[in-house]
Amino acid sequence: MSSILVKHIKQLVNVREQNSLLRGTALANLPMIEDAFLLIEDGIIADYGPMYELELKVPQLPKHIIDAAGQFVLPTWCDSHTHLVFAKTREEEFIDKIKGMSYADIAAKGGGILNSARVLNETQEDDLLYSASQRLQELIKLGTGAIEIKSGYGLTVGGELKMLRVIKKLKAQFNIPIKATFLAAHTYPVLYKDDHQAYIDLIINEMLPVIAAENLADYIDCFCETGFFSPEEMETICNAGMSYGLKPKLHVNQLNSIGGIESAIKLNALSVDHLETMNDADVQALAASNTIGTLLPTAAFFLRMQYQPARTLIDNNCAIALASDYNPGSSPSGNMNFVIALSCIQMKMLPEEAINAATINAAYAMELEKELGSISIGKKANLIFTKPMPSLAYLPYSFGNNLVDKVMINGIFV
Ligand code: NIG
Ligand code: FE
Repeated sequence: MSSILVKHIKQLVNVREQNSLLRGTALANLPMIEDAFLLIEDGIIADYGPMYELELKVPQLPKHIIDAAGQFVLPTWCDSHTHLVFAKTREEEFIDKIKGMSYADIAAKGGGILNSARVLNETQEDDLLYSASQRLQELIKLGTGAIEIKSGYGLTVGGELKMLRVIKKLKAQFNIPIKATFLAAHTYPVLYKDDHQAYIDLIINEMLPVIAAENLADYIDCFCETGFFSPEEMETICNAGMSYGLKPKLHVNQLNSIGGIESAIKLNALSVDHLETMNDADVQALAASNTIGTLLPTAAFFLRMQYQPARTLIDNNCAIALASDYNPGSSPSGNMNFVIALSCIQMKMLPEEAINAATINAAYAMELEKELGSISIGKKANLIFTKPMPSLAYLPYSFGNNLVDKVMINGIFV
């Protein structure tokens, strides 16, 4: 058995004996131990406590001891919403937007999601795998210890399957938990612009059976917005996905409130993601449901949109998580540290709320709460060791500075 003892941790953050999805005022409760020790055995958290209990709890010290004086130790971030697999970045559209072009102008030129889809279909599976692995390695160094990745830049049978096969290979290659989401309903491809039903039929009859047979996805997703997929279309697609065991995890209410939340809750969706545009009924419905609201503030930042109403959602008792939405169009960064800083700076979340939303609640949003999201005995030792800092609030306060000193995955420093 390999044992590691970490001692003199300035603060051991998000220590929990019991797991629960946090709502309302509970989100601000971030339990921590000052001057703590942490015992890791075979990559799993075996024990922890204040230093004064060390002798009693760990009478025989292991050979491998790490001194973490001045450092904070946190569970790694769970990034429950990304589009990590893509063929090409889109900085030319970024420049077009700076010069004043609207999203609609860019789409009319064949830009946006369709631009990404065209290049993805021309790109070899191995090249997609290589670039996605490079990105994922970088994210792990920034503290991401579990990730969800979507398809959705294929929009053809071959393209969607290619993306999902890349995600399956990433699952095999990396030692962090990865969840795969099937998002063929991202936009209507040009070929089906005037025949939506035919594209929905393609998703249901040509894509889903292969995805199920090859076990390529955990979840099904749909971009439910005006000009994209209606709530009714989303329900049809999700019901088909659910018949293969894929739970809905959905893009709703980024641009419009058109009933996506209501439909998602009816479908018992695991999460509803984006939520820039929420009316009172949407907030109340979400609060009364088991569905998690996942906020993607870096997408609002990058697109210069209004931020998600985090305070209203928390004050109304909704369960919320935070994720990066890493993708080439609306959030070309998967840095969860910046997501947390932005949540505090622009959405007025307390540092404790943001950290809970990006760890324990985010673990729930990808069904990993039994293995990740908190410092708990039996969970994976996927941990962030910060650089020495004066306080936990310094982490979001000092935005743009990398305060992650080291990241441990399954008990081993990367
Ligand atoms: O979640 N809005 C839908 N999908 C992505 C962005 C897609 C793109 O522009 O490539 C998102 O923000
Ligand atoms: Fe997204």
